[in-house]
Amino acid sequence: MWSYCNPVDVSFGAGAFEALPKLINGRRYAIITYPDAPFEALTQSLQKVAGAAVLVINDIAPNPDFRLLGDQCARFDGLPQAPEVLVALGGGSVIDSAKVYAAALGDFRRVQRFLETKEGGSELGATPIIAVPTTAGTGSEVTHWATVWDEQSNHKYSLALLGLYPEHAVVDPALMLGKPAGLTLATGLDALSHALESIWNINANPVSARHAVFGAKTILRDLPALMKDLGNLDLRSSIAEASLAAGLAFSNTKTSIAHNLSYPMTLGWHVQHGIACSFTLPVVLESVKGIGGFREDSLKDIFGPDLGAGAQQLTAFLAELGVGHRMNDHGVPSTAFRMIVDEAFAGERGRNFVGQKENFLNAANRLGVI
Ligand SMILES: NC(=O)c1ccc[n+]([C@@H]2O[C@H](COP(=O)([O-])OP(=O)(O)OC[C@H]3O[C@@H](n4cnc5c(N)ncnc54)[C@H](O)[C@@H]3O)[C@@H](O)[C@H]2O)c1
Ligand SMILES: [Fe+2]
Repeated sequence: MWSYCNPVDVSFGAGAFEALPKLINGRRYAIITYPDAPFEALTQSLQKVAGAAVLVINDIAPNPDFRLLGDQCARFDGLPQAPEVLVALGGGSVIDSAKVYAAALGDFRRVQRFLETKEGGSELGATPIIAVPTTAGTGSEVTHWATVWDEQSNHKYSLALLGLYPEHAVVDPALMLGKPAGLTLATGLDALSHALESIWNINANPVSARHAVFGAKTILRDLPALMKDLGNLDLRSSIAEASLAAGLAFSNTKTSIAHNLSYPMTLGWHVQHGIACSFTLPVVLESVKGIGGFREDSLKDIFGPDLGAGAQQLTAFLAELGVGHRMNDHGVPSTAFRMIVDEAFAGERGRNFVGQKENFLNAANRLGVI
């Protein structure tokens, strides 16, 4: 027995951004975006055709943090009438911030209480969201959770509520043409990680696995070419579609061990999310040889019949993109390895993993991660 569900309407293609006024459809709306010039221009052009937004939040910073979210949520409280829909124009940090505002209804303390105590869920809202991703990476446009960071207490939370699935995802690869190399690489590898993490996952199902196989194969094929030709719209489209597929896959499974290994490396050593959650993928792959069933079949569909050789190929793929597979390559001391691994396996995402800690440690030894 299995089931698959994703309720998000998706519009995909270069120029899809033009459909936004029709999707807003006369509702009071807010725009959430970054402060940079291209996003300012898109904000202006949208308001020209869709009418003025009731609120523009344009100070989104990478990795939504308690402190800034508290200040931003209060801006909703000061409005004469709350927006009926939130247009999130940006990457994961923008879409995740919009999910927090949708739940907070003008008061971030509601969300904070829920994250810290798991209480007060019935007081949370779910303002509809139209997600317009400008990175091909997080898949947040088709998931029902937001990653929320509290740098002060060195903690990462996941705000997960079924009401937070965006109403609509508008994926326009033309908006991604200006992404610089480092961001293109990190977000592309984040999407690869989502695809693979959804396969070696206790929540995997045959539909999520098919999305994941397509997503992973496409990234392995096209990301190196895109890195050499960042202005190529066909390659941008291909990676955007792969990221969407990975999103559809892990929307039903959540992530797994590679993500749980990544969070302390991002919080403690500032390793960029997409790099932190992907450089350990070869070790995880090597460690799940022999898991059997449709999960192993899916991995063999991507990497060929010998998953050990697949792990070597994946290490070489990452190396070609300049991503080393050792902790030291990312400034994380080898002495932290055991603590990171122990915590990752004990945590919620770690418990989604179908593999064994002992196999992981052996694989880490064989591949020389520390
Ligand atoms: N909710 C989910 O399902 C989910 C999944 C994975 C990651 N995340 C979270 O998403 C966040 C990372 O999101 P992200 O990787 O998309 O990046 P981001 O939203 O943090 O943006 C990083 C930078 O990229 C720039 N940028 C974005 N789009 C651009 C474009 N088209 N052209 C030029 N510059 C652009 C922005 O100005 C910003 O400074 C993290 O907080 C991570 O934890 C959420
Ligand atoms: Fe991720």
